[in-house]
Amino acid sequence: MSNGAYNLTRRGLGGLAAAAALARPARAQGSAAPGAKGTPIRIGLMLPYSGTFAQLGESITAAFELHLAERGTQLGGRPVTVIKLDDQSDPAAAPQNVNRLLNREKADVLVGTVHSGVVMALVQAAREKGVPLVIPNAGNVAASRELCSESVFRTSFSNWQPAYGMGKALAATGVKRAAWVTWDYAAGKEAGEGFRDGLKSGGAELIQVLALPFPETNFQPILAQLPGLGVEAVGSFFAGGGAVQFVRDYAAAGLRDKLPLCGSGFLTEGTLAAQGAAAEGIRTALHYGDGLDVPKNAAFRKAYRDKSGRDADVYAVQGYDAAQLLGAGADAVKGDLDADKALFAAMRAARIDSPRGAFTLSAGHNPVQNIYLREARGGMNQVIGVAAEALADPGTGCKLT
Ligand code: PHB
Repeated sequence: MSNGAYNLTRRGLGGLAAAAALARPARAQGSAAPGAKGTPIRIGLMLPYSGTFAQLGESITAAFELHLAERGTQLGGRPVTVIKLDDQSDPAAAPQNVNRLLNREKADVLVGTVHSGVVMALVQAAREKGVPLVIPNAGNVAASRELCSESVFRTSFSNWQPAYGMGKALAATGVKRAAWVTWDYAAGKEAGEGFRDGLKSGGAELIQVLALPFPETNFQPILAQLPGLGVEAVGSFFAGGGAVQFVRDYAAAGLRDKLPLCGSGFLTEGTLAAQGAAAEGIRTALHYGDGLDVPKNAAFRKAYRDKSGRDADVYAVQGYDAAQLLGAGADAVKGDLDADKALFAAMRAARIDSPRGAFTLSAGHNPVQNIYLREARGGMNQVIGVAAEALADPGTGCKLT
């Protein structure tokens, strides 16, 4: 299913591999004595605060700050300063934005981002400089596979994981032939591969992938093609504002009853109020959902609502857990982030008490987690089953153990 349109991703990865071969320069330090007690830990938070993923960045930030506040705004006994940067989900601006956080803002730790193309600049910096990076969303599989690194951690998912669960659950309903509709960038492509693998595990087949450039929302040419493909269902990856539009346009095109729509759970995550009746009945798969019987979840949702005035979604959960993971590492080294071997080992070994349910990390530093099957009902993504239990990304090409 790959085509020439994904060249940008492949070029990017080639460049990163070359960069990783370079010697690792010393980590950027603040002007005060590095790692000293009482000196703030400077966290560079690089997220989208504008564009189609703006709401996702806001949710991550609010929950990240919620957990910092719960800890008394300290990590390992040191105060914390958060520096926020709007990356606009723009891959072209990403290297400059990362440089700014490291060189001008003297960030000790990087947290970001949402977009799978943009995250590559963060991964490259973490690999080259040994700066700790926690990814609170972007699912680019390379970060847990060939570009896995001792300094790179993720509290979210790989793009492959939720879509694999969806493909598996769809095949279990008896569907034999399905199509995938998405944005033409790493996340859409990799989620499509997960969907394909999940379908295959149940004896079904991915017939066709239809994609449009990120973050465009002119879905009509694609919607017009779907009835002629000879498929029984349509899977998709969209998120944020684009997901709202896609679900509405799919319903308006009269396709809902002819070709059931499903997808990676981002399709209906944090978007249901805006999608309204158009989303009713849509099945998706994700590592979170409404009605999960997890004690930590109830407390988290209340605290998050009190702080932000909004209901928590998966992005909030991932942001909260990014702060938890950093906290686990910093506590283990008593705030001395220069003790990076011990810091990374503690983060690697952490068991995160997440609102989604406790999780640990795989060798590629990506959560091993249940993927839930959900159905959109009355404005909620109700959990109706487990699509894949304790699912790990395959981690192909990662040499960490
Ligand atoms: C991604 O680009 O990796 C991405 C963006 C938004 C999502 C999920 C994944 O909701």
